[in-house]
Amino acid sequence: MEIVAVINYKGGVGKTTVTANLAGELAYRGERVLLIDMDAQASLTFSFVTPDKWDDAYKASLTIKSWFDAISEGKEPAPLTDYVISPDVNRFLKNEGCIDLICSHLGLINVDLELATLLGGVNLQQAKRNYIKVHGKLREAISGLANSDDYDIVLMDCPPNFNIVTKNAIVASEKILIPAKPDYLSTLGIDYLHRSVNELVKEFNDYVDLDNGTEKIKPEILGVIFTMIQINSGQPISAQRQFISQTKRLGVPTFKSYFRENKTIFSDAPQNLKPVVLNYYSNSTHADVVSEIEAFVDEFEAVLENKGKK
Ligand SMILES: Nc1ncnc2c1ncn2[C@@H]1O[C@H](COP(=O)(O)OP(=O)(O)O)[C@@H](O)[C@H]1O
Ligand SMILES: [Mg+2]
Repeated sequence: MEIVAVINYKGGVGKTTVTANLAGELAYRGERVLLIDMDAQASLTFSFVTPDKWDDAYKASLTIKSWFDAISEGKEPAPLTDYVISPDVNRFLKNEGCIDLICSHLGLINVDLELATLLGGVNLQQAKRNYIKVHGKLREAISGLANSDDYDIVLMDCPPNFNIVTKNAIVASEKILIPAKPDYLSTLGIDYLHRSVNELVKEFNDYVDLDNGTEKIKPEILGVIFTMIQINSGQPISAQRQFISQTKRLGVPTFKSYFRENKTIFSDAPQNLKPVVLNYYSNSTHADVVSEIEAFVDEFEAVLENKGKK
């Protein structure tokens, strides 16, 4: 089972759009996908379920917030599978592929504060144990999923911050996917993100040394997938090409494929509760957008396979 965190410090760069479409295409190809919406904004959740349905059926006890709340209350949370829902999009999938979802909750924002109160301790030893407990819980739960063989891949859509919830996702992940816009501030952000991930990994692993039984973590960056690309004569406009080259020079791998910018096509999809890649296309632009997403998923699968061989 692959475990991938989709992350960028910046909001509005296309993380959720990339996650939803990657899930859609992988499931269409027959993969069993589990999506976990870790962002309090719940955009991924509302790309697959209506706010009414969420309010009626999921809000009270079927979100990742309920799972984290159990931890804040000092209880052992139920297995993640108890929080999984099956959105309507599955009607459009054939074969054995599926998209399951653990919804987010607007109140997830407060979970960070609650979890932070569990940090610290009477001595350094205790503080380090608590650090591992608070940051490693999701990892433990996802390892439990791996044993049950229900899913081929878990995709976690992260919020645009580096709080405890986000750190849980990174600690739990084996691979990291970074959606980004090719512009100046995003390029700076990727460098910063890369360093923060390395610091977190080092900190966690230093603490693990004290705690027998916890394995060290080694999340690998799969690459940067560029989004909102403006196409001119079949290629990204020159200003964007410049930032793509700059990102490559940061030493972070990048995907050759990209998501082009198309407000009409991308902004309607969440409301239809179906990612763009699964929609019937009405015109040639839509067809181009879909083939570009398919090309990205081809590349994504090839990169995963390559990493697996190493
Ligand atoms: N390739 C794209 N072209 C045009 N608009 C996009 C594209 N990808 C995402 N958007 C729009 O940009 C906004 C932010 O996208 P989203 O995927 O929610 O980003 P994030 O998860 O990083 O905050 C949304 O309104 C979405 O519809
Ligand atoms: Mg998002």
